[in-house]
This record gives sequence, C-alpha cells and structure tokens, in this order.
Amino acid sequence: MNKPEDQINVLVVDDEKHIRRLLEKELSSPRRRITTAGDAQAALCAVQKTRFDVIILDIMLPDGNGIELMARFQEELLAVQIILITGYADVDDAVVSMKAGACDYITKPFDLDRLEQVVETAFQRGLGYKKELLRQQGALPANTNYPDQIIGHSKAMEEIRFLIRKAAPTNVPILITGESGTGKNVIARQLHAQSLRNHIPLLTKNCATLQEELMRSELFGYCKGAFTGAEASREGLLSMADEGTLFLDEIGDLSVGVQASLLRVMENQTFRPVGDKNETRVNIRFIFATNRDLKKAVADGTFNQALFHRLNVFTINTLPLRKRKEEIPVLVEHFIGKLKPNCKISKNAMNLLMGYDWPGNVRELHNVIERGIILSDNMVITERCLPLELLDTSSRDREDAPLFASLKEVEKKHILAVMNHVDGNRSKSAEILGISRKTLYRKLADIPEYAQVDG
Ligand SMILES: Nc1ncnc2c1ncn2[C@@H]1O[C@H](COP(=O)(O)OP(=O)(O)OP(=O)(O)O)[C@@H](O)[C@H]1O
Ligand SMILES: [Mg+2]
Repeated sequence: MNKPEDQINVLVVDDEKHIRRLLEKELSSPRRRITTAGDAQAALCAVQKTRFDVIILDIMLPDGNGIELMARFQEELLAVQIILITGYADVDDAVVSMKAGACDYITKPFDLDRLEQVVETAFQRGLGYKKELLRQQGALPANTNYPDQIIGHSKAMEEIRFLIRKAAPTNVPILITGESGTGKNVIARQLHAQSLRNHIPLLTKNCATLQEELMRSELFGYCKGAFTGAEASREGLLSMADEGTLFLDEIGDLSVGVQASLLRVMENQTFRPVGDKNETRVNIRFIFATNRDLKKAVADGTFNQALFHRLNVFTINTLPLRKRKEEIPVLVEHFIGKLKPNCKISKNAMNLLMGYDWPGNVRELHNVIERGIILSDNMVITERCLPLELLDTSSRDREDAPLFASLKEVEKKHILAVMNHVDGNRSKSAEILGISRKTLYRKLADIPEYAQVDG
C-alpha cells in the first residue's frame, strides 16, 4: 500500500485487549495509523498486508515468543523499528532482545508521557525516513561516507566515477553495459553504496538463471493457491525491494513475457503478485546490467522496445580492459594485496600482462593473478607462472594480421619462449638457441618488451 511520506504505520501486538486499546487510544493521531494484533499469527498476517514503520511487541504471546517473532518481522520489513513491551521483572529480557535488534523497550505499567516519544524516536531512527525526507527537501548532499570499491584511475574509469557520483543520489534507473568481466557488478554495488537508499541492502537477481514462470514468481511473488503447489503466499523481490534498490543483472536474458510485466512496474510503480486481484504500489530504484547489445536485441525482436527505452535513461558503459591497459598494474597490485600481500610480480611477467588483450577482462586478470600466486617461486610471480596464451600475443586477435608471420616475428616469439622457459637466464637461452650471448643481447635489444623491462 502506498502512504503519505510522513505517515507512521504502527502495529501493536499484545494479547491483552485493554493494553491494545490503551495503546491505540494514546498513540492514534492524524499522522499515526495504529493496527492491533492479539497474537503472533494475527501479527504475521498484518505484516503481510501493511508495511509497518514501527511495531510495538509484547515479549510473551500465547502462540509465540516475541523475540523470535521480531526476527521474522525484520526479515519481512527491512527497515522496521521494533519496540518491546515487558514487565518490570523482565528488564533483563529486554536488554537481551535489544541486543537482538529491538530499538527500544517500554515497561508495564506504561509511562504514557514517554510512549509517544518512544514511537517518534523509533520512527526517526528508521534511517530511511530521515534520508527520504532530506532528499525530498533537496537538502541531502551526495553521500560521501562510503569506501570506493572501484580500482583504477584511467580517464574512462574517472568518467564512470563521475557518472556514479551524479546518478547515485537520484532515483533514475541505471543501465550498466559492457563486456563480461569489466566490472558491471562492482559498479552496481558502488551506485547503491553511494545512494540515499544504502541503508537497505541491495537486492540482486540474475535474470539469466530462471525460466519464465519461476522468474515471474521470484519477482512478483504469489498468493496462496495461485497455482498448483502454491500452498502459502510468498513475497516477491519487488515487494521486498520497496523503498530500496533492486539490481537486475543480465537483463538482456529476461524472458519476453516477464519483460512486459516489468515494463508495467517501471511505468506505473505498481504490480500484481501472481493470483492477486489487487495492485501493490512500490517505490523501487532499479539498476540493470547486461553484456548484450540491447539495441540489437530490440531489432532482433528478442527485447521489448518500450522496456529498452525505459531502461536506457542513464547508461554507464564499461570499457574492455584492453582499452584501458594503464589500469593493469594497479589492478594487479590490488589483487595481490587481497590474495597474498607479500607476493611480488617480476617486471617481465608484468610486461606480458600489459601485452595481452584480456578477452575475459578484469575477471580473467584476477584469475591469472590467483593462478600466478599459486605457482609463484619464493613469492615472486614470474613469466613461468603465467598461462601460455599470455606468451603469444604479438599477432593474435588482430583482424588485419597477415596469414603468415614474418621470420623476424617467429624468431622473436621463439626467443621469448626460450627466455621464459629458463626464467630470463641469458646464458642458458643463448646455449639453447645455439647463438652467442652477444648475438642474443643484440636480438633482445630489438624486442621492445625486453628492452624496456630489463633496461
Ligand atoms: N574496477 C574494478 N575494481 C576492482 N575490481 C574489479 C574492477 N572491475 C572488475 N573487478 C573484479 O573483476 C571481477 C569481475 O567483475 P564483475 O563481476 O563486476 O564483472 P561483470 O562486468 O559484472 O561481468 P559479467 O558480465 O560476466 O557479469 C570481480 O572479481 C570484480 O571484483
Ligand atoms: Mg556481472
């Protein structure tokens, strides 16, 4: 249900009727809507229907324990604030339960003057409230209190940082595009971290993994009896992401039927759980990612054109790693720092990393470093610790490469392979190649990678 932004939905759960009545009477106001429930079962039903901001909960219920119930509520309603009701003797209980996540407690008999204040404070504590209010007043500055998870300072990456800074605090949907392994998920997480909704965890769904009907249930949820096997209602991701952010990854692979339903959500901010007659209103910030060319998918008829236009409002495009190779050294340093901080990489090995085209992008680089660390000798990643494909980069993948390499090219490759085999030892290389050390030096001087590396 949609509600005015400053309305507080309060649920009172207590088995004593007079307490429910008392709290309802004392707390009711034009701003506060009070609902009551006499036991755990009724409370759980109420939570299915209304998105409560504050729940006042008796610890002892005839059909359940308030502390266990609290965990259920917190699962259902991500930003809910819970106040426990306890008798004087149960203050210890209350302390335990505050550790378990309650925001406050009140003791019977109630201090009526304090009651209203406790509920107001709880509501204010719901971080979402404060941030949302400030955002509406346009008074909220960009959130700068977040760690930057993105590594790299190429021009392209700085541009992406700029776009994130601008777009994160708004509610516009973001489409992140780019080849596999270029950091689209990293960017999605960074967008969320810098957004005004960062107090609610980012919900992520990969659209490529499920068949149409399963995906529909996951997204929209369903009512009890909606189809065979639906023995209980289930909340969908759209409802769980209300007030927060939903990241739909691999959106290009979403089945066509679900694309049309998603379009309606984006147009009207409403949806219907499977088998439900009523529309539910939601306030969701969407982030999408894909490595597919959606424009082409629209032309092929595999992607809904109207949805494409809805998604394509603010696009962040990641560059393949081969177009920002200057980032390789700092990415390598980052991955080594994370995986094995004291490990080093030889100049020659780094040079080979710089020469490679990285079809698998940053993910491939990460894997190569991980493998390199395992193979490293005395904590140094040398060329020998790198996969073979990195050693053979001179003519591969170039569309205009001639059918046959020149003799010089073959010679260069052969020299590099031998040097690599003996870990850069020139005397041994010269011996294997059957040339003098002097000749080898002359030939190496013509190989730019070697000339630079060894200086
Ligand atoms: N700029 C970056 N800074 C730090 N780590 C990065 C960066 N880019 C990518 N990575 C790392 O590279 C790996 C792949 O990144 P990510 O999963 O974000 O790629 P992707 O573009 O979403 O790929 P796919 O299209 O296959 O889902 C991850 O381990 C991620 O942490
Ligand atoms: Mg990804």
